[in-house]
Amino acid sequence: MTQALVRLRNLSKAYGASIAVHPLDLDIAQGDFLAILGPSGCGKTTLLRMMGGFAEPTTGTIEIAGKDVTQTGPEKRPTNMVFQGYGLFPHMNVRQNVSYGLKLRAVAPEEIRARVTEMLGLVHLEEFAERSVNELSGGQQQRVALARALVMRPAVLLLDEPLGALDLKLRKQMQAELRRIHRSLGGTFVFVTHDQEEALGLASRIAVMEAGRIVQQGDPQAIYRRPASRFVSTFIGDANLLEGQREHGVISLGCGGSFPSPGADGAVNVVIRPEALRLNGTGRIHGTVVDSVFLGAFTKIIIELDNGKEIAVHIPEGQVLQLPAAGERVGLSWNDTAMRCLDAT
Ligand SMILES: Nc1ncnc2c1ncn2[C@@H]1O[C@H](COP(=O)(O)OP(=O)(O)OP(=O)(O)O)[C@@H](O)[C@H]1O
Ligand SMILES: [Mg+2]
Repeated sequence: MTQALVRLRNLSKAYGASIAVHPLDLDIAQGDFLAILGPSGCGKTTLLRMMGGFAEPTTGTIEIAGKDVTQTGPEKRPTNMVFQGYGLFPHMNVRQNVSYGLKLRAVAPEEIRARVTEMLGLVHLEEFAERSVNELSGGQQQRVALARALVMRPAVLLLDEPLGALDLKLRKQMQAELRRIHRSLGGTFVFVTHDQEEALGLASRIAVMEAGRIVQQGDPQAIYRRPASRFVSTFIGDANLLEGQREHGVISLGCGGSFPSPGADGAVNVVIRPEALRLNGTGRIHGTVVDSVFLGAFTKIIIELDNGKEIAVHIPEGQVLQLPAAGERVGLSWNDTAMRCLDAT
């Protein structure tokens, strides 16, 4: 077992009476690309700022590469942070912004020039090197901030919503670039996002936050396939939640239908992803087609179940020949491996 590069223990942050981050433990391995994912206000930025040394923890410790850095200032930590609001130097041009940290470390001018040029190439800003950062778009400024942090080759790069200001196309491009940069530089990246798709696509591991707590962590597939709670299942991807009751190892769904499922008696939420549902005549449950929405790669069919609840089914573009019409009665089936039964507590 190799020791984690970053170890957070009992780390918390309170602002007066309000607790932004409840005491938590987190290990981040060398080479990880960790996404901290959660809704607005759940404490993501606060957690990242504590790792970077920009917010003082209320309790707990931060260890990086075997050293306790809890009391160490940001500039002395082996971390570099890209802020949610960029934090560029407005009176400097792009090249000066990206060079700044290397100059402070007294790196040789030729080396600074070479490394900065390489980084500006990576973020596609070569032509803007001499331009003032005030004369850049939000997305361009965000890329300057990224280059400025990456050029320092930090052991741990902390990114707070680094792609938030970019349009969808540029965002996808930069996601691919970030993955490539992470692979080629081989460092440890921790990035904050409220965009579940971005977290699934970029990260090697995801920590899901809810109201100041990490409620689940794991690789993207595990989080998507085996969400630990109702919150995680609905926050990560689309999820259908069917309410039911388990009694003597059999779940009876509110919308009709029952099936064996070992576990404790009581209320349960059955989570089924829209792409795991199949439309067919027999089906475990039944309903009526309300609407279908074409979304490019798939068509989303909304079905009203017999108890009035609506659920979604995704039909891939390749199978749209069999689309049912609105008002049509359909049966729904799924494989047991594609469903998740959570105790509703
Ligand atoms: N300096 C501060 N003083 C008081 N409360 C703060 C301060 N900074 C953050 N908070 C509060 O702490 C909680 C967590 O804030 P944080 O910025 O960490 O959330 P976030 O998950 O990054 O949200 P977003 O996705 O909107 O950026 C919020 O309720 C916020 O209002
Ligand atoms: Mg934030």
